[in-house]
Formats: sequence, C-alpha cells, structure tokens
Amino acid sequence: MSDLLQGAGLLGVTTPLGANVSLVVMLVAAVLFTTGWRLAVRKQYDAHRWVQTVAVCLNASLVLAWMVRYFVLYVVPEIPARLGEASYAVTTVHAVVGAIGLVLGVFVALRGNELVPKGLRFTNYKLFMRSPYALYMLATVLGVIVYLRIYVPGTL
Ligand code: HEM
Repeated sequence: MSDLLQGAGLLGVTTPLGANVSLVVMLVAAVLFTTGWRLAVRKQYDAHRWVQTVAVCLNASLVLAWMVRYFVLYVVPEIPARLGEASYAVTTVHAVVGAIGLVLGVFVALRGNELVPKGLRFTNYKLFMRSPYALYMLATVLGVIVYLRIYVPGTL
C-alpha cells in the first residue's frame, strides 16, 4: 500500500490532507472518549453524555468521509490476494475492529440520548459502554500503525 501513496508523514506535502486530518481528529476523539470515561467514574453523567456524543460524532464523520472510501478504493480490491502482506492485514483488522466499535458506539450514544425504541434501551451500562470504548482505543492504536506504515516509511 505504501507503494500507492508514498509520503513524508504528518507535515509532509505528499501525505493526503485527509489522512493528516483523520489522524489528528482521531487522536482528539480518543482523548475525549477517555475524558468522558473519567467523567462517568466521577458520576458527572450529563457532562459524560455530552463529551461521548461529540466524540462519537467526530469519529463517525472521519470514518465515513475518509476511511471507508480509502478502504473500498485501495484495500478491498486486494482482498484476499494480498492479505498476507502486513500493511493490508493490519488495515483490514483495523477496519473490522473500527467498524464494530463505530456501530456499538453510535448505538450507545443514541441510547444515552434516549433516541432508541423502548425494546433496545439496555440498562447494563457498564458492559455496553466499556466494549465500544475498548474497541475505539484499539482501532485508534491500529490506525496510528496504519498511518506510520503508509506515510512514514522506515518507522514500522
Ligand atoms: C473506531 C473507529 C476508527 C478509528 C478510531 C480509526 C482510526 C484511524 C486512524 C487514527 C488512522 C490514521 C489516519 C489516516 O491514515 O487516515 C486510520 C486510518 C485508516 N482507517 Fe481507520 N479508524 C476507525 C474505523 C475505520 C473503519 C470502519 C475503516 C474501514 C471500513 C477504516 C479504514 C481505515 C483506512 C483504510 C485507513 C488508512 C487511510 C489513509 O491512509 O489515509 N477505519 N484510522
């Protein structure tokens, strides 16, 4: 994949703007998710709900506006033929983890804002909130690895 888009990292002119914006926004979202988690621990539930809702929206915007398109254009056509290559394998695992995290995260945010039908209103908050948090964090770490592999050759 790095042969498709060789770049010079965060400040490099050849790295697409979308990749740099995604990286920065996803790191901000990860900080927000962690801040939101600490707010819940301190029982500041209103602030927690706001912070997590903003983080879910930021995350979903970038995934839908940039990553899904990139994945469909550059990675899907190479599956399964090049899944044995580290760049394709890590990007695919990243996409699967990220997609599950995003769906769960959007669902929990909708539930937290009372926007789901009664039958879907879970009360086991700990399980439903910890799972997307763990998946978001894992997807972020894998995303940083993907970024370094593609745009900062020689780092990973
Ligand atoms: C919790 C959800 C997700 C998080 C936190 C996340 C995070 C990141 C980060 C930080 C990067 C590096 C910045 C970049 O290169 O654009 C990245 C890259 C990427 N992600 Fe995600 N991601 C998520 C979901 C997804 C999903 C659902 C897909 C595909 C369906 C996906 C596909 C990609 C691809 C293809 C790249 C490389 C794009 C590029 O090089 O410009 N991601 N992700």
